[in-house]
Amino acid sequence: MKAIICTKYGPPEVLKIKEVDKPVPKDNEVRIKIHATAVTASDIYIRGSQIPLRYMIPMRLMLGITKPRKSIIGLVLAGEIESAGKDIKRFKPGDKVYGLTGFGFGCYAEYKCMKETDSTYGCLSLKPENLTYEEATVAAYGGLLAFQYMERGNIKPGQNVLIYGASSTTGTTAIQFAKYLGANVTAVSSASNMELSKSLGADTVLDYTTTDTLKPGEQYDFVLDAVGRRKKSKLKAACKKSLSPGGKYVSIDDGNLLLDSKRLDYIREVTETGNMKPVVDRCYAFEEIAEAHRYVEMGHKIGGVVVRINN
Ligand SMILES: NC(=O)c1ccc[n+]([C@@H]2O[C@H](COP(=O)([O-])OP(=O)(O)OC[C@H]3O[C@@H](n4cnc5c(N)ncnc54)[C@H](OP(=O)(O)O)[C@@H]3O)[C@@H](O)[C@H]2O)c1
Repeated sequence: MKAIICTKYGPPEVLKIKEVDKPVPKDNEVRIKIHATAVTASDIYIRGSQIPLRYMIPMRLMLGITKPRKSIIGLVLAGEIESAGKDIKRFKPGDKVYGLTGFGFGCYAEYKCMKETDSTYGCLSLKPENLTYEEATVAAYGGLLAFQYMERGNIKPGQNVLIYGASSTTGTTAIQFAKYLGANVTAVSSASNMELSKSLGADTVLDYTTTDTLKPGEQYDFVLDAVGRRKKSKLKAACKKSLSPGGKYVSIDDGNLLLDSKRLDYIREVTETGNMKPVVDRCYAFEEIAEAHRYVEMGHKIGGVVVRINN
């Protein structure tokens, strides 16, 4: 099968397409024919450029010193079950699935074997029927992040919710999830993405590049930092201070992402009932993956960036 190998840590050019053995599923594994994967902010860090030293050392100890131990990186997949080991109960050949592989990586390839049970090596569920494979990768990554961290807010109808970094993969999902929960949503992005936030349901939009403060007395029951601690602005600092009594501020950098197939099922339910539509920024061909990395690395992707495989 064709796979993209990360030959060493470095710029996007370290990613090379190569012919490798097709993986063989064990009795407790399925083999997925991957139709789409995503290039995420996590992939950029893993490929290994522009990471602060304090993160780089622990990351390299964990993932490999000079190059990733698992040379096929990529964390997100959407595809079809091609074969299932004899102990598999949840899936059968032909099922269309989506999920994350976590420390199992291996999504920059035509095929991936994984267990059906959740672990740090992945979670898998049936794909929302009304989504393309490309859209499903955004729903899986953005959905797992947004739903996990927003569940900490226990959001109730009528509450005021602010999504900081509203145009990111997580942010575009979070706006829609907050509206689904009945919240009044304020979305913070740069000016060029304010219309997008409105189209996703945001009631109020703010531009972090020109607005430094919130209106006096403005308070939020829940604030989600959807872009992580490294992306800052004066407005972000103001948002942190604008919680109502009992309100909560959560960053998607607060703790590890849980790989949870029950949450994927919930994302499917919200999506199939028409309450959520993933935002796909750009789709690249498999051979163009380095180009996709270059684009994501610029830090201004809108929604998710997808790579098509086996199409
Ligand atoms: N907890 C975990 O286990 C875990 C796992 C994976 C990822 N993460 C976190 O998730 C982050 C990536 O999320 P992602 O892939 O959805 O986003 P992303 O692609 O890194 O972010 C892109 C978006 O960020 C916005 N942005 C850039 N600078 C900003 C700033 N200063 N203030 C507000 N928005 C800004 C851009 O919007 P504009 O163009 O409008 O500026 C763009 O839409 C990672 O950086 C990491 O912190 C956490």
